[in-house]
Amino acid sequence: MAENQSESLVRYALVDCDPGVDDALALAIGFASPFFRYDAVTTVHGNVSARLAYRNARRLVAFLRDHLESPIPDVPVYPGAALALDGSRLNRSESRMIHGPEGMGAMFDNKKRLRRLGRGSSKPAWEVIVEQAARRGSALTIITLGPLTNLALALRRAPGAFSRVKRIVVMGGAARMPGNVTPAAEFNIYCDPLAAKEVFSSGLPVTMVGLDVTRRALWRVEELEGGGSFRAALRDLIRVYARFSKKRRGADDITLHDPLALAVAMKPDLVETIPCRVDVDASRGVARGMTLVDLRENRGARVKNPVDVALGLDLKGFLAFFISHLRKYRGWDEDGK
Ligand code: RIB
Ligand code: CA
Repeated sequence: MAENQSESLVRYALVDCDPGVDDALALAIGFASPFFRYDAVTTVHGNVSARLAYRNARRLVAFLRDHLESPIPDVPVYPGAALALDGSRLNRSESRMIHGPEGMGAMFDNKKRLRRLGRGSSKPAWEVIVEQAARRGSALTIITLGPLTNLALALRRAPGAFSRVKRIVVMGGAARMPGNVTPAAEFNIYCDPLAAKEVFSSGLPVTMVGLDVTRRALWRVEELEGGGSFRAALRDLIRVYARFSKKRRGADDITLHDPLALAVAMKPDLVETIPCRVDVDASRGVARGMTLVDLRENRGARVKNPVDVALGLDLKGFLAFFISHLRKYRGWDEDGK
């Protein structure tokens, strides 16, 4: 097959994230699949500060590449926004109870795992997002796993660059469910509601993977028992999160919000979606960050600037997909096997 023809068949992805424990698990399954070639990872404030998100992503890229059975090229990491568009700052006390003070649970408490940092850059995330959208066009899928600040900044700078982008998969929001950071709002949207409002009203091909489906994506921590060094690292990664789940919900599982969003980008039939108008309360009131999803029957055939909102989930299919990709790491099973 001619190079340019094979090149035209390549699917590219850019992941914007705030690692964060579930962000890390999402990158793990993404990198383990040949489905996308990863042009970049961009980082943003959210679960942790922008500075920590950037450092955690660089450590994660190096760590995951060290353990992949089929190696991938070094994916550059670009630093992003430290504050929401409205300049608001988030109280991260609960985030620390979920992701740990450094955002990676206890994973990097084991100094052996800190061997290297992946490629960094001084180029800001929003610049890279514009560049990749313009360069890759219909071959590019953007997956956002944190607040939408970087993407909104990129859209403000060069809206035309996104005209051909294939899909934007957003982990965030809730249609019929209460929020997880306030009764009204899901965390990623709450952190920067104005950014989310601009992305959801952009008219771009957006899929919203919100709490309606991610809350059901529960992974039993016992599945991490045994195995080799990679599985031991994931046990350390989720330890704090699992303790939070046990305390808050009395459950021995963690919620795979971000891994589900990345899985949907690779396998859209894991969810059922409905095209809806989605607005966001960008005020500083009690409903800040609420996603107002118009599910009324009489919305009219053509919804203006629809967002594909995920409401149905093939949970069995997702968990099988998720585990099948973790198995592609050396050290998931006994080391040396
Ligand atoms: O509400 C869940 C989302 O908020 C996930 O992306 C998690 O990492 C946090 O950022
Ligand atoms: Ca996240």
